Amino acid sequence: DWSMANFVEEQIRLIREQVGERKVLCALSGGVDSSVVAALIHKAIGDQLTCIFVDNGLLRKGEADDVMDTFADGFHMNVIKVDAKERFLSKLNGVSDPEKKRKIIGNEFIYVFNDEAEKMKEVDFLAQGTLYTDIIESGTDTAQTIKSHHNVGGLPEDMTFQLIEPLNTLFKDEVRALGTELGVPDRIVWRQPFPGPGLGIRVLGEITEPKLEIVRESDAILREEIRLADLEKDVWQYFTVLPGIQSVGVMGDARTYDHTIAIRAVTSIDGMTSDWARIPYDVLGKISTRIVNEVPHVNRVVYDVTSKPPATIEWE
Ligand code: XMP
Repeated sequence: DWSMANFVEEQIRLIREQVGERKVLCALSGGVDSSVVAALIHKAIGDQLTCIFVDNGLLRKGEADDVMDTFADGFHMNVIKVDAKERFLSKLNGVSDPEKKRKIIGNEFIYVFNDEAEKMKEVDFLAQGTLYTDIIESGTDTAQTIKSHHNVGGLPEDMTFQLIEPLNTLFKDEVRALGTELGVPDRIVWRQPFPGPGLGIRVLGEITEPKLEIVRESDAILREEIRLADLEKDVWQYFTVLPGIQSVGVMGDARTYDHTIAIRAVTSIDGMTSDWARIPYDVLGKISTRIVNEVPHVNRVVYDVTSKPPATIEWE
């Protein structure tokens, strides 16, 4: 009979049988799917697994350290952290079209991953956190045609790995249960969705370091306040956006001419449709006050009250 414990046992047996003494590579993003697949394969074959974690400079505050603490230190996995910030940001320099930004980020990820994989000897397998829904939706997912999501089918082109996809019979809720069974921490198992292009599509238009910093810091405040208000499980996804407009304000006696931050927070089942989250006014007020006080160059905070459709969840 089916239980998560039996599933784990069976998968471990299959993975060991398939891999033997050989080596497996896994792209670890810190998201639910790649984290759970890494934990499962690590449980099966330990040090024969190597994970590559690419810091593209577009991650949220504290995210890279959190991934390394959890998997390298906590699980004792082989994790290679690639600091590719400069590579990504220089490729993105001067680019403002959202789809071009997505393509650059997606392609650069593949190049960086390839470069790392080439340094390693004799890796035969690539583990991927493909879910059942990724398979049935591919090709018909309207979200993918509206915006080119790069994390599905983003395999390095000329690689000759065999794929290991142990989650490909599971739905998202089952993957979370599996993660919990394997000891993956709740903050990862229940992590809100985060797009592959990261903060790169939350700085609208051209990406610069100072703009990334504003989005990163304001996002960290938003996340902290949502957690303190105990709203993490009520709001499906929440983040800040830097539209890149400046407006007039007043700080002390002085006139300011600074950035606006938009807060986006939605309820949703699967991201295909969504409604704006009814976050209590006092929570919004506190978030707003903290952002203008703590994040330099922000003098105004607005709340996005649009559903999807007609808007999308992300602003790019
Ligand atoms: P939209 O903005 O299309 O977003 O309503 C729906 C969900 O998809 C996420 N999203 C992405 N995820 N690569 C990803 O991996 C992308 O390019 C991308 N664009 C949007 C978005 O965060 C939301 O959860």
